[in-house]
Amino acid sequence: VPAIAAILGMALLSGCQQVRQSISIGDMSSGYNREIWWMSLWAIALSIIIFIGVSYALFYTVNKFREDKHEAPPAQFHGNNRLEIALVGVPVIIVIFLSVLTVKSLAVVNAVDAQAPKIDVLGRQFWWNFSYPAAKAQAGGVVTNGNEMLMPAGQDVTLTVTSGDVIHGFWAPNIGGQRAAMPAVQKTWTVDTSRPGAYQGNCSQLCGASHANMRYKVVALEQARYDATLAAAQVYRAPEPAPGSAEARGYAIFMQGKGSTGATACAACHRVQGTPAAGVNGPDLSFFGTRRTLGAGMWEAMSEQQWEEPGAARALHEWLKHSPKVKPGSLMPTYDGSEYMVQGRKAKGGVLTDAEIDDVAAYLRSLKLPEEADYWKGTR
Ligand code: CUA
Repeated sequence: VPAIAAILGMALLSGCQQVRQSISIGDMSSGYNREIWWMSLWAIALSIIIFIGVSYALFYTVNKFREDKHEAPPAQFHGNNRLEIALVGVPVIIVIFLSVLTVKSLAVVNAVDAQAPKIDVLGRQFWWNFSYPAAKAQAGGVVTNGNEMLMPAGQDVTLTVTSGDVIHGFWAPNIGGQRAAMPAVQKTWTVDTSRPGAYQGNCSQLCGASHANMRYKVVALEQARYDATLAAAQVYRAPEPAPGSAEARGYAIFMQGKGSTGATACAACHRVQGTPAAGVNGPDLSFFGTRRTLGAGMWEAMSEQQWEEPGAARALHEWLKHSPKVKPGSLMPTYDGSEYMVQGRKAKGGVLTDAEIDDVAAYLRSLKLPEEADYWKGTR
């Protein structure tokens, strides 16, 4: 039964492969998945052979020794050395064979490629940050992006994952195996995909009210495009808003908040490369305008056009106004003055007007990588 369930499960999951931003453990573009797949096939094949053999023996015995076929009981005997050696020996050989395969596969999937490009992954309740230690931003710090991970396709990528609070789990099944994100522990492993595209990632450890809302995208780019995008990100400085524009008003609120109503500055928790905003308690927003996801995958745009639609504007507005209402457990304050829970305590948010919220949204939307570094363009 487990074998059949495994086959059905794999078939169902791998059926999703061609869907945009797919999620599949059967994605053979990843060397990691191929290794696990071949090992599983051996286990499944042996299980099927054993299942058939045992079923045959059972039905054969039941039929052959039916009571109505025999007047006297069948011949009784004690001990059969050959049979007993076979009954112990064959399973032992199978177990040894599977153990050797498992150890070999473990060695392959746990091997860390030290030469591969490195990405640091940080899980927090309830979002992710991805940073590229080799990409030093000219504006200071390291290139970092929230909830959308970029990686080169066609080669190994070595990830190091940790958590800033509770235990989370990093798992983007298409590119390789999962690892627990644990506070004060760093786990390093290597993933890969040969196929450029967007893949779904999830948190795989129950971690609180919005565990299910802790998603991310993995965008695998062809090597040249990946290099160009990272190079553009290194020299990126958030654009300076034109004086008097909505973006400029949003910038002021983002950086200083609105003290008179208790609305805290976004910059206290978020970083925007090339500005004084250097907060680390929320996801990095440096390239917010290039992103296609909001609230760690709670809302996603399939195209740039969709980002421009009223629905997207409303989603962003609602998000900024009272994210704890949109996303249970979100630590972001409310900006409609309502109460929200932060780590078991009630807190009261500040107040921004709808117009001010839209100004902040306009500022966030302006935080774009240059056109040629838009990693979503042409990504499927
Ligand atoms: Cu983080 Cu579940």
